[in-house]
Parts: sequence; C-alpha cells; structure tokens
Amino acid sequence: MENIDWGNLGFSYMKADYNLRCYYRDGKWEEMTLSQDEHIPMHIAATCLHYGQEAFEGLKAYRGVDGEIRLFRADENAKRLKSSADYLMMQAPSVDMFVDAVTKVVKANERFIPPYGTGASLYIRPLLIGTGAQVGVSPSDEYLFVIFVTPVGPYYKSGFNPMKVIVDRDHDRAAPLGTGHVKTGGNYVASLLSASWGHDMGYSSVIYLDAKEKRYIDECGAANFFGIKNGTYVTPKSHSVLPSITNLSLTQLAEDLGLTVERREVDLAELATFEEAGSCGTAAVISPIGSVYDPKEDITYSFGDSVGKVTTELYNRLCGIQYGEVEDTHNWVTIVK
Ligand code: PLP
Ligand code: COI
Repeated sequence: MENIDWGNLGFSYMKADYNLRCYYRDGKWEEMTLSQDEHIPMHIAATCLHYGQEAFEGLKAYRGVDGEIRLFRADENAKRLKSSADYLMMQAPSVDMFVDAVTKVVKANERFIPPYGTGASLYIRPLLIGTGAQVGVSPSDEYLFVIFVTPVGPYYKSGFNPMKVIVDRDHDRAAPLGTGHVKTGGNYVASLLSASWGHDMGYSSVIYLDAKEKRYIDECGAANFFGIKNGTYVTPKSHSVLPSITNLSLTQLAEDLGLTVERREVDLAELATFEEAGSCGTAAVISPIGSVYDPKEDITYSFGDSVGKVTTELYNRLCGIQYGEVEDTHNWVTIVK
C-alpha cells in the first residue's frame, strides 16, 4: 500500500479490504463470508444492543524480519472468546473455526500488514454479538461472529517510555463477582469516565483497585499490571482482572530469564517496594510505568525516569518472538501461508 505512512500510524480505525462474517442460526454456524461492507444490518431488538450480549477479542498479525506473516497465540484468544461467550450465555466458534477465520481475514487483507521495521502491525478485532430479537432479558438464539482488521501503530503516542498513572478510587471497572474476567463491552464503557478523568488530571492511565476493599491492584486501564522486585515478577490475581495473553507470555519469559513469578493479591502500598512496574496487553505490549499517584494518600510511587532493565528485556524478547527475530521456543507463533 503505497499511500500509507506506516511509521506514523496511531491506534485508530482504517478501512482494510475485507471483513469476515459468520452467523449462528437454527443451532449451527453457517458459511464464513468475506465482505467489503463496513456495516452490519441488525434487528432493532438485538440482544447486543439492549442487554450488552457481546464479547470481543484483540490480537495482531506481524510482518517478520524474514518477510513471513506471524500470528501470536491466536488459540489463546479463541479460548478466551469461548470463556467470555460461556459466561454471557452466547454461542462461540470453536478454536479451529476461530483460528481459521483469523487466518482467512489476514490473508485477504495482506496488503494492509505493515512492513517489518515500521513498528506497526495489523490489529485483528474478532467480535461476537447476539443478533436475535428479544425484549425480555434472555439470551439470543442467533449470533454473528465478525472480524475486522486495521493497521495500527503504537497504542500510546509516548511509545516505550515511562508513563504517569493515577489511582482511581471513585470508579470501578468491574464488580468482584461480575464480568471483569471476560472481554465484554460493558467493562469498557464502565471505564470511559474513569479514563477521561485520568486524562483531565494529566495522567496516561488509571489504576483500578479491587471493588470490595479498595486495597489491591486490579488493572491498569485496559491492561494487566505487573511489578518487578528482588528477581520476582509479581502480577495481581483477581477474579475481576481479564486474563491477559501478553501477561501469560511475560510470566513465561520472566521464568526463562530466571525470575520467580508470583500471581497473588498486590496491595497498593506494596508499590513502594517495586523496582520496576508496567502494564501489558496486545495493543501496547508493555507500557512501562514511571510513577503512580494516589490522590487519597497524596503519595507518588516512583520507578525512575527510564525504563528498567527487566522490563526492557521482557519487551525485547516478546517483540522479538512476534517479529521472528528471537527463537520461538514456546511455539507461540503461527506462520500464515
Ligand atoms: N485487560 C484488559 C481489560 C484488556 O482489555 C486487555 C486487552 O485485551 C488486557 C488486559 C490485555 O490482554 P491481552 O494481553 O490478551 O491483550
Ligand atoms: C489491549 O490490546 O491491550 C487492549 O486493551 C485493547 C483495547 C483497545 C481494548
């Protein structure tokens, strides 16, 4: 694509050539189709519109150093979509169907995969929605699985630099036994006001605390939190945290580096003891955290002005695997042919 400025892409929507669609009707999945239409026709009483019966995923395709197209752990996204769908009483595609659909739509949009070395990639957004008409609060009997793709650059304009974060004690993104562990739109709409407040206060992201005790770290914006201290990678264990595939991968890479991994409750006050901190997710991979401000206690926890050694090493290893520069010893990558 000669007219795309790959090196300056943001994290925003750009029309690619095709999206993929597949309906679940009359108890079975129909044929997958590729479409150039960016709109979906929908019944005015569809359950996704009124009752939020929807789940989505996010993964990327990378153009590697060898020119090959790589998908990163797409099977894990398939499993997470199934887990979201089960909790929201929706039908989900099988792992094979999901991976097949992702592969098809990536191939159909090959000219939108950013070239190696531009720092950009092709973001893949699978979406599952209840399309059947209901007025009572009950699950749909019809579902649409759709995937669009769009080329993206870095999630944060500041790139791989430490960001300032603020603790939000006035909003919860998810309830202790609610939907935080699944990837459904309601969690994200519940975070809008909070993110906007954080930005107005001059911060790139907010930390959510557990909704019950307001004591333990849950998530950092739409990303998991991790901290590093004494050769240990620590990340919160909480029912209301989305199980991040990036975090899952970083815990493995941390072990490969000889770190101990602890998945447990992380008291906000423990921030004072971390040497490095970061947030992680597909969009940004790792966003290093430079400082966390807690307005209630008027305390700032600082982790330095430059990115820590362990965070940098983890970032380089993970990106290296995704771009085919580092050996994929855990078999995380699938080459799209
Ligand atoms: N937490 C939330 C709330 C998210 O939306 C995401 C993004 O998907 C993540 C964490 C990171 O998950 P992953 O690494 O699978 O992208
Ligand atoms: C992530 O990929 O880390 C995200 O949080 C995606 C976001 C745009 C919902």
